[in-house]
Amino acid sequence: MTIKLLAFSASTRLASYNRKLIAVAAQAARDAGAEVTLIDLLDYDMPLYNGDLEARDGLPASTQALQQLFAGHDGLLLSTPEYNGLFPPLLKNTLDWVSRGNGLDHLAGKVAGILSASPGRVGGLRSLMATRQYLNNLGLLVVPQQQAVSEAGHAFDEQGLLLDARVQAGVNNVAVALVGTTQKLRD
Ligand SMILES: Cc1cc2nc3c(=O)[nH]c(=O)nc-3n(C[C@H](O)[C@H](O)[C@H](O)COP(=O)(O)O)c2cc1C
Repeated sequence: MTIKLLAFSASTRLASYNRKLIAVAAQAARDAGAEVTLIDLLDYDMPLYNGDLEARDGLPASTQALQQLFAGHDGLLLSTPEYNGLFPPLLKNTLDWVSRGNGLDHLAGKVAGILSASPGRVGGLRSLMATRQYLNNLGLLVVPQQQAVSEAGHAFDEQGLLLDARVQAGVNNVAVALVGTTQKLRD
C-alpha cells in the first residue's frame, strides 16, 4: 500500500520560503512513491493554548480535524522557519493542541522528515535541532537526513523550484529516507 504523508509549512506567511520549500519537498516525496496531502495551517487556525479554554470548550474543531488527518497518514513532512534559534510558536501551539485528548495516539510511532528555509547563512539549522527534539517528545521518529536552505530569498526561481541542484538533492534525500523508513516500519 502507498505510504501516505501529511505535509505542511510552519509558516503561514503568504510569501513564506518554507511554504515554497514544503511544496518542493512534497513533490520529492511523491517522486519517491508517497501519496502526499499538503495542507495550509491557515486552514487550521487555533487559539493560543489555554487549559481553561480546553476545559470549557474542549478541543477546537480545527484541532480535531488535524487529529483525524494525522490518524489517516503514516508520516509527517515539515518545513519550519527559525525564530530566535527555535521553531516558531505556530508549530508548538498547533501540535500541542493536536497532542491533547487522544491526539498522541495519532502522532506516536509515525515517521517525520524535517526541512527549514531562512534568509540567513545557516538556513535555520538550530530550528531543525529543536524541531527534532520536539517531535521526538511527541513520539515521532525523525529521520537523520534533513535539509536547511540558506539565503532562501535567492534559493528559488519564479516557479518556486530550487535553483541549486545540491540543495534539491538534499531535499530528495529527506524524502527518500522518510518514505523508505516509513515503508520499512509498516512492513
Ligand atoms: C521573531 C523572529 C525571529 C527570527 N529569528 C531568526 C533566527 O534565529 N534565525 C534565522 O535564520 N532567521 C530568523 N528570523 C528570520 C526568518 O528566518 C524569516 O523571517 C523567514 O522568512 C521566516 O520564514 P518564512 O519565510 O517561511 O515565513 C526571524 C524572524 C522573526 C519574525
